[in-house]
Amino acid sequence: MLLEAKNISVCYGAVKAIEDVSFNVDACEIVAMIGPNGAGKSTALKAVFGMVDLKSGDIYFDGENINNLRPDEHVPKGISHVPEGRRLFPSMTVMENLEMGAFLQKGNNTGAEIEKILTLFPSLKERRRQKAGVLSTGEQQMLAMGRALMQKPRLLLADEPSLGLSPSYVDIIFEKLIEINKSGTSILLVEQNARMALEVAHRGYVFEIGRIFMEDTGRNLLKSEEVKRAFLGGI
Ligand SMILES: Nc1ncnc2c1ncn2[C@@H]1O[C@H](COP(=O)(O)OP(=O)(O)OP(=O)(O)O)[C@@H](O)[C@H]1O
Ligand SMILES: [Mg+2]
Repeated sequence: MLLEAKNISVCYGAVKAIEDVSFNVDACEIVAMIGPNGAGKSTALKAVFGMVDLKSGDIYFDGENINNLRPDEHVPKGISHVPEGRRLFPSMTVMENLEMGAFLQKGNNTGAEIEKILTLFPSLKERRRQKAGVLSTGEQQMLAMGRALMQKPRLLLADEPSLGLSPSYVDIIFEKLIEINKSGTSILLVEQNARMALEVAHRGYVFEIGRIFMEDTGRNLLKSEEVKRAFLGGI
């Protein structure tokens, strides 16, 4: 087991965002989290990355308890987070944004790593000297993913990577997630686009308000009447 979250609860003041939630990610898996707005999916990802405090429960990465690590301390362990809304440095170039991704990574093979990422995302290569702020939303999402990959994660946490993208970019982002996974990176993916997420995911968790109420393979969840009715437009 690469990642194991056991009975975790997180509160924002008096608001219980997630309660007693357990999930895991194996080596080389894509795992999707789907569910309605406000159900706690982003909070679960933030908890894994140390962005919110646990009220209770435990999180293990590679067998090591990571409950009390700060976000920047997760990166050298092998966990990277692509936040919702991308959070790029808009006035810095594509190259500079990628270099910032390497900032927390030990070692100095930045050039080779950037080359790999520009090969994965050819449209970023053409725009490498442009400022991130002038890129299309889809290209910005690729850059946010590229920046996270600069940290050579074993586990990539991606929060709504397809949100706000045009359909052709949505397809590209999902293709790239598969490619990234095939090269050996596990992915924990939170998505509004439940159908596509379950199509690419080996396994999935379905959230309802503050808890997980179903887990199964992506394939079985796609076939589930309950999931179809709630998240796949009833078809
Ligand atoms: N910073 C915060 N302060 C207070 N409450 C918050 C905060 N962030 C989230 N919440 C609340 O916690 C609950 C879970 O939110 P979360 O963002 O994890 O849900 P989500 O499943 O990612 O939803 P969405 O699909 O809208 O992104 C919601 O009730 C939300 O209003
Ligand atoms: Mg969210």
